[in-house]
Amino acid sequence: MKMSIKELAKLANVSVTTVSLVLNDKPSRISETKKKEIKELAKLHDYQPNFSARNLVTKTSKTIGLLMPDIENLFFSALAKNVEDELRQNGYSLLLVNSDDMYKNDISLIKNLVNRGVDGLLLTIANDAIKHKAQYETLLEDIKTPYVMVDRTLGNPKHPQVYFDNQLGGYLATKYLIDQGHQKIACLISKDKSLNGYYRYKGYQKALKMAHIDLNEQWVFDGDYRFQSGYHMADRLVSQQCDALFAGNDLMAYGAIKRLKELGKKVPEDIEVVGYDNLEFSKMLGLNLPSVEQNVKALGKQSVALLMDLMKNQAINRTIVLEPTFKKD
Ligand code: RIB
Repeated sequence: MKMSIKELAKLANVSVTTVSLVLNDKPSRISETKKKEIKELAKLHDYQPNFSARNLVTKTSKTIGLLMPDIENLFFSALAKNVEDELRQNGYSLLLVNSDDMYKNDISLIKNLVNRGVDGLLLTIANDAIKHKAQYETLLEDIKTPYVMVDRTLGNPKHPQVYFDNQLGGYLATKYLIDQGHQKIACLISKDKSLNGYYRYKGYQKALKMAHIDLNEQWVFDGDYRFQSGYHMADRLVSQQCDALFAGNDLMAYGAIKRLKELGKKVPEDIEVVGYDNLEFSKMLGLNLPSVEQNVKALGKQSVALLMDLMKNQAINRTIVLEPTFKKD
């Protein structure tokens, strides 16, 4: 049976607070002899600290909550791994929650993390958050827990945030296709349901305009960053005789490529496809998918560093915009 902090305190004939201060090496007026006795008893009985007891005294859990929209997407699982590496170096544990890319889950999960006593929050909010800004603004106003918005934001500089320049990413991807000689370039993006998607679309628009290529709205397709979006729109690429596709992330690019091959089309010979996120998956599968890279190591590092600063001084408020790069092999 696991020994509780209360039983250990009784055994050592001291209070729970004393045990917690001693085992957490907090400053106290307890004698060295008594400290040694408490630590020996804890070791003898294999006492394992219970975080809720630890919170009672230290008021910290040494845990950071990480909200993510889709941990099946390698972009987010890679980001979570890099965040955890950074947190571990700062002496913190990670509590990861997944929203299935739905704002309603975001709101309840954020409240849940705060109620569990995390010391800070890293928030990658759902795509549809942008349609429910008021709910987020109210919630983020109310919580006292320091937070950083990561990768996805509400477009409001009052929130501490770290993300990539999505318009530059969309521009780089589309310019690459133009430079390859393509004129009928389709775009698969969630421009109305995602702020990142909207800015990637703006980059697509900018590249076409700078090359004096008319934008044909019929070649702009709605996607949700998932494989099926790409798979189910690919037939229209063929029927509308597009010669290239900018997909707003690699999963949608994979879906489009799979369907194009089922339709007997060669990629890139018949239709060239570029993606976004430059997932390791492409290399593992030997798939030469040119893609916009968002360095998740840098994103994780900068996000955790900003949160650590915020936890020391909540007056800090920084927006950090990182630059994506285009990788073609
Ligand atoms: O693949 C999921 C996409 O949503 C990524 O490009 C990331 O930027 C997130 O916003």
